[in-house]
Amino acid sequence: MTPASTDLPAPLKALVGRADDALARALPAEDLPPTDLHRAMRYAVLGGGKRLRPLFVYAAGHALGNDGPLLDAPACAVEIIHAYSLVHDDLPAMDDDALRRGRPTCHIVFGEAMAILAGDALQALAFELLAIAPEGDDARQRIAMLRTLGAACGAEGMAGGQAFDLAGVGHKLSLDELERMHAYKTGALIRASIRLGALAAGCVDESMFARLDRYGHAVGLAFQVRDDILDVEGESAVIGKTAGKDAAADKPTFPSIIGLDASRARLASLVDEALEAISPLGQRGEWLADLARYSATRGH
Ligand code: IPE
Ligand code: IPE
Ligand code: MG
Ligand code: MG
Ligand code: MG
Repeated sequence: MTPASTDLPAPLKALVGRADDALARALPAEDLPPTDLHRAMRYAVLGGGKRLRPLFVYAAGHALGNDGPLLDAPACAVEIIHAYSLVHDDLPAMDDDALRRGRPTCHIVFGEAMAILAGDALQALAFELLAIAPEGDDARQRIAMLRTLGAACGAEGMAGGQAFDLAGVGHKLSLDELERMHAYKTGALIRASIRLGALAAGCVDESMFARLDRYGHAVGLAFQVRDDILDVEGESAVIGKTAGKDAAADKPTFPSIIGLDASRARLASLVDEALEAISPLGQRGEWLADLARYSATRGH
């Protein structure tokens, strides 16, 4: 096993650039009216972010033997949904955050109304991108992709998780309730990114989807456990968002419920679970394995 790394290996770093380029092309031009909305959308998506969800799309496609351009639309779609979720997450009515990716949050720069609209428009754009079928594309596959993304960001996915998060403020959740909240809030979109990569690569094998879903469940949870730990241990200048906000807002998090040491232990066991799920893929699953380790050790 490669030692745990806080950095991404070179092939995955190169894919960050590929995602950035595809995103810049997919977003509306800043000089097109309504310019404020388009500027807010581009601000929210471009100029920062680890692009982990696109990397999950590319890594799953790669594991299924496809590295081609068909992966770019789902890679953009999941990152655009993620960016919209961050814009709304930072709003005063939600986490009321002023710093994101080392810059003022979207509503600080463009105002609350424009930030709400930018989130709305980004969400719509993500589905539109997925619906634009490339030539020779299988329509059933495309519908499966749309359905996967819809389920991941709706009431049984990210939006539902955000509702659990807000309802949990000031309450001592059980570990099961906390894990369910994280699985919805963050895990659902990560699982969807992996599934979308596999679907775009033409996968129709249910046992493969089940294997990837086991991996995605573990890695998605690990990702949010690490986020909770970074809120406690990280420095704002490094994590690019205000550290210590979860405790200040009395949010239910892994460290607040089971403590930092047990959170770190849970993180390690989740990475083992993720790696175990994809071990039959061997070398093909190398990028997925790298992403599992990175999700748990990342410094921001
Ligand atoms: C932050 O996600 C929000 C969570 C779901 C925990 P990321 O840590 O992936 O944020 P960016 O995209 O790199 O800024
Ligand atoms: C955000 O979780 C999850 C979504 C945006 C869906 P957090 O509130 O923990 O994310 P950060 O810490 O603000 O990035
Ligand atoms: Mg939040
Ligand atoms: Mg937040
Ligand atoms: Mg957080």
